[in-house]
Amino acid sequence: MAKRIPRDSCFDGTRTLVRDPYGFIAARTRRLGSDVFETRILLRRTLCLSGPQAAALLYDRERFRRRGATPAPVRSTLFGKGGVQGLDDEAHRRRKQMLLSLMTPERTRTLVELSMRQWEGAARQWTTSSRVVLYDELQEILARAACAWAGVPLAEAQVRECTRDLASLYDESVVLPWGYLRARRARRRLERWIAGFVKELRTGRRGVATDTPLGVIARHTDERGRLLAPRAAAVEVLNLLRPIVAVSVYIVFLAHALHGHPEWRARVAGDPAAFDGFVQEVRRFYPFFPVIFARVRRDFEWQGFAFRRRRRVLLDVYGTNHDPRAWDAPEEFRPDRFAGWREDPFALIPQGGGDNCPGHRCAGEGLTLELLKASLRFLISRLQYDVPNQDLRIDRARLPALPRDRFVVSRVSLLEPAPQPLAATHGTARA
Ligand code: HEM
Repeated sequence: MAKRIPRDSCFDGTRTLVRDPYGFIAARTRRLGSDVFETRILLRRTLCLSGPQAAALLYDRERFRRRGATPAPVRSTLFGKGGVQGLDDEAHRRRKQMLLSLMTPERTRTLVELSMRQWEGAARQWTTSSRVVLYDELQEILARAACAWAGVPLAEAQVRECTRDLASLYDESVVLPWGYLRARRARRRLERWIAGFVKELRTGRRGVATDTPLGVIARHTDERGRLLAPRAAAVEVLNLLRPIVAVSVYIVFLAHALHGHPEWRARVAGDPAAFDGFVQEVRRFYPFFPVIFARVRRDFEWQGFAFRRRRRVLLDVYGTNHDPRAWDAPEEFRPDRFAGWREDPFALIPQGGGDNCPGHRCAGEGLTLELLKASLRFLISRLQYDVPNQDLRIDRARLPALPRDRFVVSRVSLLEPAPQPLAATHGTARA
C-alpha cells in the first residue's frame, strides 16, 4: 500500500511561499525528511517537490502535464494566456519547435550584437553621470535590443513605457498587490500593441520583415493548420521580449559576483574555462526563477507515495540548484566546481531541466548564456567603475531577488576594447 505524503503543518502555504519564495519548499523537505510534501497553495491541495530526482520525475511527460497547471495570477501577468508554457503533447511540440527555430546561432549572434551596441551607447552616457543604477539601465538596454531583434517596431518616444511594461510582467508581478495590478495592465497594453502588428503583417499593411521572430510567429500555424489568434501570437512574442529584459537580473548578479569575489576577475579574464564556470555558477548560485508548475496527468506511485491525478505540483528550482546531494558546499560561490562538471540536466535547473523539445526546458537558455558571456566580457574588459557604498545584500523576499540597491555604480569610464575578448587581465572595478 502507498505511503501517505507528508503534510506541511500550516493549512495554506501561500503567504509563507510569497514571503520566502526561494526557501519555502527546501526548508520543509529538509524538516519532513522527504523530497515531496503536501500543502495548500491558493487553497488548492498542492504537492511540492525538491531535488534532482524529483526534477527528473516532473519532466516525465507521461506522468505530468502543463495544461491548467499555472495559477491564474501568474497566467494573467508573467505568462499570458494561450502561450507555450500551458501546452502539452503535439500542440506543445509544434509551438516549441517554432520558438526554437528562432534561436539559431546566427539569430543569437544578432541579438548579442544589438545588445552590445546598446551597452556601448548607454555606457558612454554613464561616463557623464555621477551615479548609475545598473539594473534599471540594463532593462532599457535589453528592451531596445529585444524589440529590434524580434522585429517589433519601437519608436524612441515609446522606449520608456515599453521597458517599464516589459519589466513589470516579471518584476514583483505576483508578490505585491500593486505589482500585480500594474503587471496586468502592462500585459493588456503590450498584447494589444503587438497583436496590432500581427494583424498588419498578415494583411500586408505593414512592411515588417517576415523573417523576423514577429513575422515567424505571425505566420505560425497550429497542429490543425490554423493561424494563432492575434492575441495568442502576441503572447508568444512577449515570451521572447519579457525574458530577454529579465536577463538584466542575471547581469546584475554577474556584477555582484565580480564585486564580491574580486579574486575571480583576473581568472575570468585570462582563462576561458574559468569564464564559463563563472557564468554557470552565477546561474546556479543566485536565486531567480523560484518554482515550476505542473499537474499530475494520471495516478502513479513514486518512492512509495501515491500521486493522484489532477493534483497541482510545484518543483523547487532554487532548492534543487542548492541540493547538497548534487553540489558540494552549495551555499558557497565556487565557479571552479564547473571544471570537468558532468552535465546533469536535473541538478542545474535555473532555466528548467530535461530537454528543450519535446520538453518544457527554457527555449532561450542558449541565448541567455551568450548574452551573459558578452556582458561579462564588457564588465571586465570595457567598463571601469566604482561600486559606491550601498546595500548589496540580496533581497530574497522580492521576486525576482535582487541586490537591495539594484547595484549602483559610479565614476564610469570606458577602456580601450581589448584586442581579443579574453586576453585582457586587468581588474577594472576600482572599489
Ligand atoms: C532571464 C533568464 C531566464 C530564466 C531564469 C529563464 C527560466 C525559465 C524557466 C525556469 C522556464 C520553465 C521551464 C519549465 O517549465 O520546465 C523557462 C521557460 C521558457 N523560457 Fe526561459 N528563462 C530565461 C530566459 C529566457 C529567454 C532569453 C527566452 C527567449 C528569448 C526564454 C524563453 C522561454 C520560453 C519560451 C519558455 C517556455 C518553454 C516551454 O514551456 O516549452 N527564456 N524559462
